[in-house]
Amino acid sequence: MCGIIGYTGGRPAAPLLLAGLQKLEYRGYDSAGIALLAPEGIRLVKNAGHEGVMALELLAGKIGALPEASAGIGHTRWATHGRPTDINAHPHLDASGEFAIAHNGIIENYVSLRARLRAEGYVFRSETDSEVVAHLLALHYSGDLAEALRGALAEIEGSFALIVMSSRHPGQLAAARRNAPLIVGVGAEGEFFIASDIPAVLKETRDIYVLEDGEMVVATRGGVCFTDFAGNSRPKTVTRVTWDAAAAEKAGYDHFMLKEIDEQPQALRDTLSGRVAKSGAIDLGIAADFFADVDRVAFVGCGTAYHACLIGRELLEQWARFPAETAIASEFRYRQPLVDERTLVVAVSQSGETADTLAALREAKKEGARVLAVTNVVGSTVAREADEVLFTWAGPEIAVASTKAYTTQLEIMALLSMFLAARAGRLATERSAALLKELRSLPAKIEDILARKEQLRGLAAGLSDSSSAFFIGRGLDWAVALEGALKLKEISYIHAEAYAAGELKHGTLALVTKETPVIAVATQRALYEKTLSNVEEVKAREGRVLAVTRAENKELAAAADEVFFLPPVSDDLAPIITVVPLQLIAYYAAVRRGNHVDKPRNLAKTVTTE
Ligand code: AGP
Repeated sequence: MCGIIGYTGGRPAAPLLLAGLQKLEYRGYDSAGIALLAPEGIRLVKNAGHEGVMALELLAGKIGALPEASAGIGHTRWATHGRPTDINAHPHLDASGEFAIAHNGIIENYVSLRARLRAEGYVFRSETDSEVVAHLLALHYSGDLAEALRGALAEIEGSFALIVMSSRHPGQLAAARRNAPLIVGVGAEGEFFIASDIPAVLKETRDIYVLEDGEMVVATRGGVCFTDFAGNSRPKTVTRVTWDAAAAEKAGYDHFMLKEIDEQPQALRDTLSGRVAKSGAIDLGIAADFFADVDRVAFVGCGTAYHACLIGRELLEQWARFPAETAIASEFRYRQPLVDERTLVVAVSQSGETADTLAALREAKKEGARVLAVTNVVGSTVAREADEVLFTWAGPEIAVASTKAYTTQLEIMALLSMFLAARAGRLATERSAALLKELRSLPAKIEDILARKEQLRGLAAGLSDSSSAFFIGRGLDWAVALEGALKLKEISYIHAEAYAAGELKHGTLALVTKETPVIAVATQRALYEKTLSNVEEVKAREGRVLAVTRAENKELAAAADEVFFLPPVSDDLAPIITVVPLQLIAYYAAVRRGNHVDKPRNLAKTVTTE
């Protein structure tokens, strides 16, 4: 997720673009840049952050050297393809320097486009997917910028919010969106802003147009014109924004956590994009020989990342029949782990900076293991020190409680397990196709759950006054129960523990009273009966049970006091959607208790201390 902005009007563009980028920094901040349509042509400054100085701060020191110009584009980056470096920063130019683009999204077919354009003599400077757009504009240009953009869009697969400009069209911007937000701000007379999000323009205007997927806009001082990608007119009406600046940064949400819970469908789509070949084979972008001779896999992480490890291990063993283990990173690093050059260590970390996970990674490498990182931050220490990396493309996760990073980690676990199972000849083509089809359907299933927030708010009210709660589940449901308990603990401050449902009677049942809510997670069909009997144990002690299960599980629904039904989903991929109601229950419980949801007490988003 990146932030893009464009301006055309009667004022100097550079300070306006910089101010807008500063309001978009929450969307990405590892590098930034501004390109201006100056009389003498396009002028560009861009940089990554260096030595602890944020990218935008460095950029601010450079714009004074830019010529006066009343039109331009800007970008603040969250790297996905290509490290956070000066050359990979946006905006990107074509070879002639006559076209400039700023892009938010992922171009899935950039590898093939690059190869074709290179074969046609186009010279690439950066490692990014986005740069192909600048060259496609030059390729399709024949006098009209909007037509050139339409030509480029016809070749692009994937998600994008794009703003483009050309020195051949002074004062003109063109923009388009597909699966990434884009708005137009109506400034003073003959003044227009185009941006990823409202915060970027709110200081200048509250009157905006919202572009829908498949729409384009051309902006000049004379006005704005909206069309679809075929050039058909799309008349729009202005919307008046009533949010204050703080609310706008959260896109109108009360908390980043709820915004990030809602972003999970798109985060899953983005994380899957570009990782399935046209043949249907999983393409991790990692050479197959990296996995050669691996005879054991160890997943390591902390907190929520560790809970993702538990799912990864289970799927890997189920699908690839690989011996696999999990370890809490802070334990792994001190126990002389049995790893060697045939062990694959999968280090999972949203931030890529967690001290214990980093130490575990270094310990594994010292013992000769191969390390594959799964992280959300390009350029993070874990990403740089691992031998290979699989990035989740969830975009910046601001709330301390991890949500979209976790579900995209689970998606990566599924893709990795499918890849290794196929490599081991243990994943039939039909099974692989069915799993991929279901992975593609998960965003819509999560949207179905998100549409029932009010029910979950009500269920949260029923436990928000409790002093403690138990989460139970079996198999994959146990791993999800662990994550649900952590979410509730860390933001509502309600003591919560997760247990393998079969363990309850070995001691903890002594704590169950009518005051103790028990959340029973039951999606694993073969274990329904067992979990039902555990629920009945709780009910026999007057405990209150909230079941999170499938609509078909009528017996459990009848035994429980309250139930939340999940959309249809397979056992193996159930964790990716089952966690969402638990995230929302924790969120609403914390809100009811008046807690600081995004920044809970005692916690930090990244634990860089041991
Ligand atoms: C999750 O909600 C917590 N904020 C915490 O457990 C977190 O998952 C853990 O600190 C690991 O962080 P990482 O994924 O950045 O390594």
